[in-house]
Amino acid sequence: MAHADSESAYFNNYPPPKALPKHESLAKSFIDYHVESNRRVVLVTSGGTTVPLENQTVRFIDNFSAGTRGATSAEYFLQEGYAVIFFHRQYSLLPYSRHYSHSTNCFLDFMDEASPTPLYNSNNSDHGPIKVRNKYQDEMRDVLRKYRYAKQNNRLLLIPYTTVSEYLFELRMLAKCMKPLGPNALFYLAAAVSDFFIPRDRMAEHKIQSSEIPKEFSNNDEAVGAEDIYTGGFEQKQATSSKKLVVNLDPVPKFLQQLVDGWSPEGSMIVSFKLETDPNILVYKAQTALKRYAHHLVIGNLLSTRKWEVVFVTPDAPYERWIRVPKSRRSKSISGVEDQVGLAEAAKRAGSQIAPSTPEDDDTPKEGDGHIGAREGSEIESLIIPELVKLHTNMIVKFNQ
Ligand code: PMT
Repeated sequence: MAHADSESAYFNNYPPPKALPKHESLAKSFIDYHVESNRRVVLVTSGGTTVPLENQTVRFIDNFSAGTRGATSAEYFLQEGYAVIFFHRQYSLLPYSRHYSHSTNCFLDFMDEASPTPLYNSNNSDHGPIKVRNKYQDEMRDVLRKYRYAKQNNRLLLIPYTTVSEYLFELRMLAKCMKPLGPNALFYLAAAVSDFFIPRDRMAEHKIQSSEIPKEFSNNDEAVGAEDIYTGGFEQKQATSSKKLVVNLDPVPKFLQQLVDGWSPEGSMIVSFKLETDPNILVYKAQTALKRYAHHLVIGNLLSTRKWEVVFVTPDAPYERWIRVPKSRRSKSISGVEDQVGLAEAAKRAGSQIAPSTPEDDDTPKEGDGHIGAREGSEIESLIIPELVKLHTNMIVKFNQ
């Protein structure tokens, strides 16, 4: 099916999210405001998307993304003077509040109750004022000031989504709203969007049952009937008390092409991400995505090293460029595997004339390596965003020539 056909097939088959009109009006006034002042606006997508298994959703498929890349990047874009539309998975990390949220950075750990003083206005004499602990004062003041500045100057618009369908409808709407921005628009697609989903005509309306229910209660119109919930057939003896659920997923239509060719403003810059787990294929997959969609930049990252290194894959020289946090400034990460830093680059270059640069080659702190809130080490987004801003500036200059 042609791209335009698959687009209309998709959007005609699904009801738009209820919040779409409200989000559209918020986005339009935010964008108009920044068009007036000729400010650059970046759309940052962030977090995973859910794939519901039932229409009245009890269960869904999800992915690992917590929205760290998106929320962190948004802060550095704001620091660079951009206005940010932060299009994020609801309840994933948000710019600024990310420093004090979720279980790893529980905000209560940053606070203390001070001793009661006569000046503190409380009805209870043993109640002291709640204060930020001394050692976090400077860091929290810095974050708070930046957050306040973004809010008071209308620099940050938060738009949430949850399901993959909401993501697609809202992405199309936001991209079209950004048209008046022309080359001042930047798309930074860091979200981990589901590749597979259950089409509407095959989705169960009600909670899928794990055991049979009497016929008089069952609905013949159910998209997932008892015959589709089967026991697998691998057992010698079929299970009697519980059943396996086999789910058939269809591929989510690839809308990056439509974003590049139709939805986005003329002259805008489009940056997508590519995530892999196998170092041997990362650069190849990023290059393939760049060729397929003919946009401006693919940022490749490995699941295990994404906090310390990324690769910029561009259509022009240098074509492939690694950005790394210097070894001495790498933060600790429970899920990351530091030994794997450099592997994807080495894998790509094995067999070519150029010797792989080891991570240690990169150990000089770079300009722009200052950052807020990384309690230990540097955030790689403090290196990614300034580089990206340079590329965006070059594109704007070329467009205006
Ligand atoms: O949130 P974190 O834990 O910090 O993790 C960040 C991240 C690893 C998720 C992020 O850095 C990242 O790599 N995101 C992209 C993941 C990916 O490989 O996406 P993809 O290959 O499925 O899609 C390619 C690009 O198209 C992505 O930019 C994606 O956002 C975009 N896309 C994909 C499908 C779709 N239907 N719409 C899209 O916009």
